[in-house]
Amino acid sequence: MKVMVVGGGGREHAIIKSLKKSEKIDKIYALPGNGGIAMDAECVDIKATDIPGAVDFAVKNNIDFAVVAPDDPLVLGMVDALNEKGISCFGPKKNAAIIEGSKVFSKNLMKKYNIPTAAYEVFTDGKQAVKYLEGAKYPAVIKADGLALGKGVIIAKNFDEAKNAVKSIMEDKVFGDSGNEIVIEEFLTGPEVSVLAFTDGNTVVPMVSSMDHKRAKDGDEGLNTGGMGTIAPNPYYTEEIAKECYEKIFVPTIEAMKKEGREFSGCLYFGLMITEKGPYVIEYNCRFGDPETQVVLPLLKSDLFEIMQKISRKELKKEDVEFYEKSAACVVMASEGYPVSYEKGFEITLPELNDDEQIYIAGAKKKDGKIVTDGGRVLGAVKIANNLKDAVDGAYALTEKIHFDNAYKRCDIGKKALEYVRR
Ligand code: AMP
Ligand code: GLY
Repeated sequence: MKVMVVGGGGREHAIIKSLKKSEKIDKIYALPGNGGIAMDAECVDIKATDIPGAVDFAVKNNIDFAVVAPDDPLVLGMVDALNEKGISCFGPKKNAAIIEGSKVFSKNLMKKYNIPTAAYEVFTDGKQAVKYLEGAKYPAVIKADGLALGKGVIIAKNFDEAKNAVKSIMEDKVFGDSGNEIVIEEFLTGPEVSVLAFTDGNTVVPMVSSMDHKRAKDGDEGLNTGGMGTIAPNPYYTEEIAKECYEKIFVPTIEAMKKEGREFSGCLYFGLMITEKGPYVIEYNCRFGDPETQVVLPLLKSDLFEIMQKISRKELKKEDVEFYEKSAACVVMASEGYPVSYEKGFEITLPELNDDEQIYIAGAKKKDGKIVTDGGRVLGAVKIANNLKDAVDGAYALTEKIHFDNAYKRCDIGKKALEYVRR
């Protein structure tokens, strides 16, 4: 079978490496992929958001199955366009991808179906939002409605910060039309857990849990990034909490989407916070998380492609999804200066890997036969081990064998989780 994977980051590299293990697949294309993905798939110079380009390529090359991984092509309706040409896909249609594409939609959905989430108000008018913020409790959380490259959430410590956030989102339009509406919500506290779940619209099967490290600097300081590292499983996500999430969040969400006539098929990402009052939904994503995928898929024992095919045929069963009882850690190596400004173009040297190690390339390109840095997050170094400590130590040991100029990484990935395990 010929498969195409849309996207070009570390997540897509992890998906491709997992798909490669399937005997059913003869050829994988990546649109556009990157200089590292090129080691595992044929990269095609078509942007992830180029829907006509992707459809045209799929038709001309007799693609049997497409995996649409990033949020923007999903929200724009790439799956609908490919389905129209008879191409089976993994990923939600446009009317279901809205669960990530509009925070106003997802908050209203949760309210309507009693899914636990922070209390909130929606504003389409900046002045009214500011008036509301005069009497709000702080910190207050301000979210742009639409996609904003993971930067659309501002936690304002006081009224001045909140007012500035509203101005930049609604007046200065720093996120474009994504800021036409905003959600202002209650600030919650507690450990965060990411749970990716396979679903065919009827059955939902959660994958192993994980923990992201979003801030740029050690100790969760510095700016928000796309994610500086992950561990799996997440020790805060106990069996008891998992059961509660399944009953109060996962199943109700899938049912709610069905009732709304927006059946969700693909990977639904639940961003959860374990509060004193139980687990709450912080956000939904309509796709695999990045860099959560880099620790979740290496632990998947079942054939990823078979799961994806079953989902596209609406035949998913719980037994189809099995994980190894192991741990994984991913340490992101970024370019110094990320997420603000950084230099690119430095040669990357990679070591030979053991079976329990992976390197997923996120921001690199080929130049004169070499691989050079080409983005903020350059790669993720991943180790699979019998326990979390060995996974974290192993991932850091692996980073020591990878070289490029101006490399930057956090030095405390997994630290909080390990302290919790040892408590
Ligand atoms: P998001 O871009 O939606 O993933 O949000 C980014 C981060 O903001 C989350 O991972 C949380 O750490 C934080 N956040 C979002 N909503 C809330 C909330 N209601 N209370 C506290 N923190 C939040
Ligand atoms: N790691 C967070 C995300 O994928 O949105």
